[in-house]
Amino acid sequence: MYNAVIFDLDGTLTDSGEGIFNCVRYTLDKMNRPQLDDATLRRFIGPPLAESFMNYCGMDEDTAREATRFYRERYVPIGWKENTVYPGIRALLRHLKKQGVYLAVATGKPQTTAQTVLDYFGLSEYMDQIAGPMAGELHANKADLIRRVLPDNCKALMVGDTAGDVKGGHDTGIDSAAALWGYGTEESLLNAKPTHVCKTVSDLMTLLGCPQEKGLFITFEGVDGCGKTTQMNLLEKQLIHFGYPVYRTREPGGCPIAEDIRKIVLSQEDGGMCSETEALLFAAARAQHVKQVILPKTKEGHTVICDRFVDSSLVYQGMGRELSMDWVKLINRIAFESGAPDMTVLLRLPREESLRRRNASSTPDRIEKAGDAFFARTEKGFDQLAAENPDRIIPVDAHGTPDEVAERVWQAVWAKLKEAALS
Ligand code: TYD
Repeated sequence: MYNAVIFDLDGTLTDSGEGIFNCVRYTLDKMNRPQLDDATLRRFIGPPLAESFMNYCGMDEDTAREATRFYRERYVPIGWKENTVYPGIRALLRHLKKQGVYLAVATGKPQTTAQTVLDYFGLSEYMDQIAGPMAGELHANKADLIRRVLPDNCKALMVGDTAGDVKGGHDTGIDSAAALWGYGTEESLLNAKPTHVCKTVSDLMTLLGCPQEKGLFITFEGVDGCGKTTQMNLLEKQLIHFGYPVYRTREPGGCPIAEDIRKIVLSQEDGGMCSETEALLFAAARAQHVKQVILPKTKEGHTVICDRFVDSSLVYQGMGRELSMDWVKLINRIAFESGAPDMTVLLRLPREESLRRRNASSTPDRIEKAGDAFFARTEKGFDQLAAENPDRIIPVDAHGTPDEVAERVWQAVWAKLKEAALS
């Protein structure tokens, strides 16, 4: 098997199309030149920029240098972040690293930019070396870049999404895998005669013996009106950019049977439901949800984000309704033996603010009608749970703009993901 794997970056590890296209369009606008069609824009991904400006826009070397300067004017502050790690890549790198395989990047992107991108997405920690054109180096051929990182006496594989990557493999005497999920056309890649053809990242994982990795289970908790939905949306987007396949769900609900239970337990009618029935219904919905959705989805490698989970039962039914805590814990142990959250984001909001947001929202459900003393107990309850479970529950200040809160949530989640990745 291979003991060294060298990756191309754009179109292989990350889908950098959005940022690159936007920056080429910006450059052409600035230089009053006609825009390119999408097929031509795609060809900018991979080779050194100046080369592409010369090949596809008919620029001479000096004009191409100027174009590169305009390009960087947008790329440096914004463009490089308009990028997404392909799902599966992170698990693959982690697996190869654990197996002691030497890993490197050989990219047409300037070396410093490649380093910045790989650092930001947390991929550089898997790499033994990164090679890209150095400052002022206009043409760097793929074979030269590969030679810069290729260790002696190894069985190496070059993975890339363009014919240039495959050719780089041939020129340096190593095997190649054509990554069809990127930007090169299938025809051009097959014509270059790669050793292996991988239609998807999953095919490459199979080729390199990487097993499917279990995804993390993340729950969101907090008093009603704390802004969970907005924050879960923002976290989902960020996780996708970082290459984590996400599955979103909620409690009570998340699958047909549990959604039916939700209608009963959150009905706007009082109906005289006693607290024990309420707690058992939440636990019953949870049992179904864990078995039918949460366990299978995490097993498939999804990061599952769930709006509320068992902590809500402990807080709302145990502390809010003042049922016995031991009893609420017991029925929930019956509901799910495995499937506890790996981490819980607790959004903490000052009481007046959550009241204001709650009053501004639509018709209250049965739980929202429970009254002030009940909500005071739930607020205290969440803090108590956080103090008892410092490793799992991460309190996040939910005061401020959505973006400010999102940044706090991301820092907390990213730290946990990195910790899990290293374990
Ligand atoms: P929902 O409309 O989803 O509100 P929110 O956006 O605040 O989560 O309603 C869920 C309600 O159910 C919420 O008031 C909390 C309550 N709940 C419990 O009391 N126990 C539980 O176990 C769960 C999951 C939710």
